Amino acid sequence: MKNRLIVALDTDDGEDIDWLSGTLKDIVPWVKIGFQAFSVLGTESFLWFSGRGHLIFLDLKFHDIPNTVARDVGTMTRHGANMINMHASGGFEMMQAARISADDAAYDAGIPIPILLGVTILTSVDEEGFQTHFGSERKLTEQVVYLAKQAKEAGLDGVVASPLEIEPIRKACGDKFLIVTPGIRPKWAEVGDQKRITTPAEAIDRGADYIVVGRPIIEADDPLEAAERILDEMKGA
Ligand code: C5P
Repeated sequence: MKNRLIVALDTDDGEDIDWLSGTLKDIVPWVKIGFQAFSVLGTESFLWFSGRGHLIFLDLKFHDIPNTVARDVGTMTRHGANMINMHASGGFEMMQAARISADDAAYDAGIPIPILLGVTILTSVDEEGFQTHFGSERKLTEQVVYLAKQAKEAGLDGVVASPLEIEPIRKACGDKFLIVTPGIRPKWAEVGDQKRITTPAEAIDRGADYIVVGRPIIEADDPLEAAERILDEMKGA
C-alpha cells in the first residue's frame, strides 16, 4: 500500500519540506511537489529527493500550447520527475506532444519514462459549481469521463480525478489506465476546500491506483502517525 500513497508537500517552507520528507521517507516513497514546494526547491531538489528514496510526482498541472507543454514536460523528464501532470482540457494535441516529448527525453537520457497524467475536473468543484461556471452541456461526471478518454487516446498513462468517478472512468478506459485520486479525507480530518471526497479506504475500495493526501498528513500534529494511520486504513480496505 505504501507505493499507492502520495503525500502532497504543499508548503513553501524548505525546512518543513526537508523535515516532512525525512520523517516520512521510510513509509511513504511518493511525494508530490506542487508550485509552492517547487518555487523554493527547484529542479535541483529532484536528485536530493531521489537520493532519499523518494519518487517525485511533479504537480505543476501544465496547460499551454502543445509546443510549450512538450518542452516543459521534456525538461522535467530530464530532471528526473517520475510522474508529471497536465490539464486534459489543454487539448488532445497538447497531451500527444507531451507524451512524445517525455518518451524522447527519457530515451535520450537513458532514464525511466515518467508516468504522464491528465487532470480532469478538480476535486474542489462540485456539480453545482460545474454547471454554473464551466458552460458545459454535460454533467460533471460525463465531462470527467470525456477528458479521461481523450487523455487515454492521446497516450497518457492515466488521470487525476475524484474517487467518486473511478467506476465510470474504469468502464470507459479499462483496468490498465491509472487513476490518481486527491480529495481524500479520513473521517478524523478536516474537509477544507475539497468537495468530491471519500476516505482513504473507500478510494482504494473503489479502485484508485494512487491516492494523494496533503493537509490531513502535513498539517497533523504528528505527520508520521497520520501517514501510518492512513496506510492502515488503506490496508484494511
Ligand atoms: O491537502 P489536500 O489533501 O486537499 O491536497 C490535495 C492535493 O492534491 C493538493 O496538492 C491539490 O493541489 C491536489 N489536487 C487536487 N485535485 C485535483 C488535482 C490535484 O486536490 N484534481
